[in-house]
Amino acid sequence: MSENKEASQVIAVGSDHAGFAVKEAVKKRLQERGWRVEDYTQVEAGAGDYPQVGRPVAEAVARGDFPRAVLVCGTGLGMSYVSNRVPGVRAALCFNCEFARLSREHNDSNILVIPGRVAIPDPPLAILDAWLDTPFSQDERHVRRIYQIDHPEE
Ligand code: RB5
Repeated sequence: MSENKEASQVIAVGSDHAGFAVKEAVKKRLQERGWRVEDYTQVEAGAGDYPQVGRPVAEAVARGDFPRAVLVCGTGLGMSYVSNRVPGVRAALCFNCEFARLSREHNDSNILVIPGRVAIPDPPLAILDAWLDTPFSQDERHVRRIYQIDHPEE
């Protein structure tokens, strides 16, 4: 995706207290790349409960308010659990750039989840860049598999 295309797009971010510092770095990087950023983080509320932030972000992505979002909590697990319960959301918890690339290429992930408080192999901003820079492959087998996620009865 080019920087120009990104300039016309808005992306949501959110974190709890444990993901706050990484979320701030992510937000800055997104703004540097030209994205308009909507931050759902509830700093004034103490931001202790990741579902209070992750669920509204995931619902907004599912409604189509944002093409993509980035969520951060301590491990990334809580944000993954809550956002993947919203139909239409494909949230990818990524520890490294390869996961980020493959989550876009194969799974068309629409939410990137990054851990904020545990050691991971690649730097969070490198993971973010890999995720932003990788398009969905559009390959028929991947389109089919993604369809099957949301249509288990078929
Ligand atoms: C908060 O202490 C921590 O539990 C939260 O950030 C997250 O890691 C949960 O999955």
